[in-house]
Amino acid sequence: METLEKLDVTVIEPRLKHPTIFSKFDALAGGQAFIIHNDHDPKPLYYQLLGERGNIFKWEYLEEGPEVWEVRISKLTPAEGETVGELVAKDYRKAQVFKKYGIDFCCGGKKSVAQVCEEKGVDQEQLEQELNATGQVSNARENDYSSWDLSFLADYIVNMHHKYVRESLPALYEYTTKLARVHGQRHPELVEIAKHFVNVANELEAHMPKEERVLFPYIKQLEEAKKRGLQMDTPPFGSIQNPINMMEMEHENAGGELEAIRRLSSNYTVPADGCATYQVGFAKLKEFEEDLHRHIHLENNILFPKALELEKEVLK
Ligand SMILES: [Fe+2]
Ligand SMILES: [Fe+2]
Repeated sequence: METLEKLDVTVIEPRLKHPTIFSKFDALAGGQAFIIHNDHDPKPLYYQLLGERGNIFKWEYLEEGPEVWEVRISKLTPAEGETVGELVAKDYRKAQVFKKYGIDFCCGGKKSVAQVCEEKGVDQEQLEQELNATGQVSNARENDYSSWDLSFLADYIVNMHHKYVRESLPALYEYTTKLARVHGQRHPELVEIAKHFVNVANELEAHMPKEERVLFPYIKQLEEAKKRGLQMDTPPFGSIQNPINMMEMEHENAGGELEAIRRLSSNYTVPADGCATYQVGFAKLKEFEEDLHRHIHLENNILFPKALELEKEVLK
């Protein structure tokens, strides 16, 4: 077993904790690692590292409380570095390949191909062949979201995806509660599905207004300032990294609820005794999940990273 350097974060002066960890991380070569030892879950550091250094590290809990937390942080080699999300941002057709293998490219898209293959037990060579093959078939028009102005992309997300979510929730709520009521005896998973659906509905209803009222208007201001060659003051929330971290965490929660629904429904498979409501309900849930994946992909993999870059240019 390799012996790794262990950094005891509890004895470092608070304001020096993160800089010390960052400089330790920066000094690593690809493939090297160190361990941090802490007295609480250092998850905020995970998001800070992700935001400021990008997905070039692996984060593994060796111990998870209640008194001691230890995490092995390893720096990836450049070849391992390109993330699933970045690949899909460049070419949305690749999403099909990831979907086929049940690989999450949006909510958990900040992982490298090597990482997800390891997690899912997928043959990486086979997957990469299929990913490369998508580049050769010229597909019908796929929007080139990466080239859009951020204000336009933000409006697109609200008008297409937020609108779709708001329109779909009431009907889906009815379907899932009805299914649980009528068939819950014979199919108890329907009761669980209805609960998870309420969770995701609540999560999204609280989540979207934050984007619409705070985050997206701020992104538009940044873009406007850049066009006019102006510098902006620091916003009340410090840096856009903070609301982005929060949004990404909420995306993960929503994605997790839908993943649970997918699992409970065996990939939306209607049983032999399933009625028409069953069929329509599952078809709509599946459509809802697909829409949410594209929606979160646009935010996590395109809008947010570009807004972070923009903020660096524009803030005083
Ligand atoms: Fe959104
Ligand atoms: Fe969102």
